[in-house]
Amino acid sequence: MEKTEHMLSKRVVVLTGAGISAESGVRTFRDNDGLWENHRIEDVATPEAWRADPELVWQFYQARRKQLLEVEPNPAHFALAELELSLEHFTLITQNVDDLHERAGSSNVIHMHGRLNTLRCEQTNRNEIRMSEDDLQNEFLSCTCCSEPSRLRPDIVWFGETPMEMPTIYAALEKCEVFIVVGSSGHVYPAAGMVNIAKMIGAKTILVNLDEPLNAYDFDEIHYGKAGELLPRLLQTWMKEF
Ligand code: OAD
Repeated sequence: MEKTEHMLSKRVVVLTGAGISAESGVRTFRDNDGLWENHRIEDVATPEAWRADPELVWQFYQARRKQLLEVEPNPAHFALAELELSLEHFTLITQNVDDLHERAGSSNVIHMHGRLNTLRCEQTNRNEIRMSEDDLQNEFLSCTCCSEPSRLRPDIVWFGETPMEMPTIYAALEKCEVFIVVGSSGHVYPAAGMVNIAKMIGAKTILVNLDEPLNAYDFDEIHYGKAGELLPRLLQTWMKEF
């Protein structure tokens, strides 16, 4: 997709969470009690869990990687791709590890919590796209970067690890004039604290979410409902305001 000729001038940063992919059929983390086959997300999404029971963690992420092939972007993802086309300065940050923003047409998506379609070498930390049929089985996989191939781990930021691309994220936040959050419960930092930074520098803060998140009081404008239903309509308003 190409940018439109008449660009809107506001500097906009959008942060998305699991809620934006809910209508595509991707389960959120906290809406359905956060359990995966009786394991809490915290028990399968830590470096400790990977060391203690790598098979369990591998199975959890292989199931999520396979699910990528079955889901499609929804109107909320498409609305953000369209918003990007109208703005000269636009940054899309997602906590989601799926690729639905990209498939809807968004470019330069910052995946602060990593990605499902890549795997990371445990020795070199290099990641590679591994989504062929052979890559989605139960067996562990090896990298293509080491002379003696090393085991690959999910390319996911686990609890206790540092989110990706934080300097780029802070640079965008420090200059933003409008900060929009879509589909996030405000439980997990640093993502949940970004609204405070945006507010501190005087940006307008907007929330689109199904239920009240923990950090609701930090938003100037709140729209409760489903992102897939609300965002296409809000997009029309924002096109006039920005
Ligand atoms: P959560 O599962 O914590 O929250 C999802 C939010 O989306 C909730 O507040 C819901 O009300 C809202 N929601 C559900 N359906 C929606 C819809 N159709 N439209 C709009 N909103 C909807 O997900 P996150 O806040 O993204 O981290 O969770 C943050 C991080 O916690 C995740 O990135 C993940 C997890 O641990 C890692 O894996 C590192």
